[in-house]
Amino acid sequence: MASTPLSLILLTLINLQLLLLLSPQTQAQTPSAPAPSPSGPINVTGILDKNGQYTTLIRLLNETQVGNQIVSQLNSSTEGMSLFAPTDNAFNNLASGALNGLNDQQKVQLVQYHVTPKYYSVSDLLTVSNPVRTQASGATGVWGLNFTGKGNQVNVSTGLVVTQINNLLRQQFPFAVYQVDQVLLPEELFGAKPPASAPAPAKTPSGSPNTKTNSTAGGALAPTGAGGRNLVGWGLALVLGLACMAALS
Ligand SMILES: *[C@@H]1O[C@H](CO)[C@@H](O)[C@H](O)[C@H]1NC(C)=O
Ligand SMILES: *[C@@H]1O[C@H](CO)[C@@H](O)[C@H](O)[C@H]1NC(C)=O
Ligand SMILES: *[C@@H]1O[C@H](CO)[C@@H](O)[C@H](O)[C@H]1NC(C)=O
Ligand SMILES: *[C@@H]1O[C@H](CO)[C@@H](O)[C@H](O)[C@H]1NC(C)=O
Ligand SMILES: *[C@@H]1O[C@H](CO)[C@@H](O)[C@H](O)[C@H]1NC(C)=O
Ligand SMILES: *[C@@H]1O[C@H](CO)[C@@H](O)[C@H](O)[C@H]1NC(C)=O
Repeated sequence: MASTPLSLILLTLINLQLLLLLSPQTQAQTPSAPAPSPSGPINVTGILDKNGQYTTLIRLLNETQVGNQIVSQLNSSTEGMSLFAPTDNAFNNLASGALNGLNDQQKVQLVQYHVTPKYYSVSDLLTVSNPVRTQASGATGVWGLNFTGKGNQVNVSTGLVVTQINNLLRQQFPFAVYQVDQVLLPEELFGAKPPASAPAPAKTPSGSPNTKTNSTAGGALAPTGAGGRNLVGWGLALVLGLACMAALS
């Protein structure tokens, strides 16, 4: 049975090699989600479409042409851009008629209010100085959003609406996309001079869907994709398994 130690050594060597082969791959996978080729234009609809709950926003981006504005501005901007993307639920929770009460120009302004002419990562948002300029403007100048951060939780406020930023759809220069669970209603359109269709101001208190965090307190904004570790785990299991088999043979 002199063959046993030899085969064991061979197997161990093979397995070590296997581990070495695995590890660079693991490292390459860990840092970030699949990186789209930086050359082509960014497909805004594509980013939102993948997540399946932004049909109203996609329709509005198209209807108002703001989607095209984003694409062409991204192409020429050195600052990048950010989009705060309300979900279909957010639109459904608006007072009925809130959207239909807007004329075409106001719809454009509403959508532009969700876009900033600058790229902000989460850590940028935590420390940014308020108010933050959006793409929307009117008689009173550029309309702003306010961001407040604590830990790695970020709230965005319009003065009428405060909502937590729960989910990162994309955080990669030059374009960041964040989910928001409420439509960001600008005071300039929905504030003071209430038209018949204006929604009640920010229904933040009481158990409304505002606090729908689906993750542990600290990790709410952590991008997904720590799947790389599993490979190492499997590699080790494989090595141990083969070593056991070798020992038994
Ligand atoms: C963007 O993505 C959408 C859906 O994912 C697709 O229908 C559309 O053709 C894409 N547009 C471009 C310019 O690639
Ligand atoms: C985009 O809007 C145009 C009208 O502005 C419409 O003809 C077209 O069907 C819309 N496309 C999508 C994908 O909604
Ligand atoms: C992007 O910019 C380049 C020049 O910087 C221009 O040639 C190209 O047509 C632009 N593409 C789009 C989609 O605007
Ligand atoms: C965000 O807003 C919620 C309530 O709307 C509040 O409880 C929380 O403390 C705020 N967080 C930050 C960072 O301002
Ligand atoms: C936003 O922040 C600025 C500066 O801190 C403040 O003057 C303004 O009142 C804030 N607006 C809202 C709507 O919270
Ligand atoms: C919470 O996230 C998990 C996956 O991480 C998902 O299966 C579940 O449906 C989510 N729940 C809500 C309420 O979004």
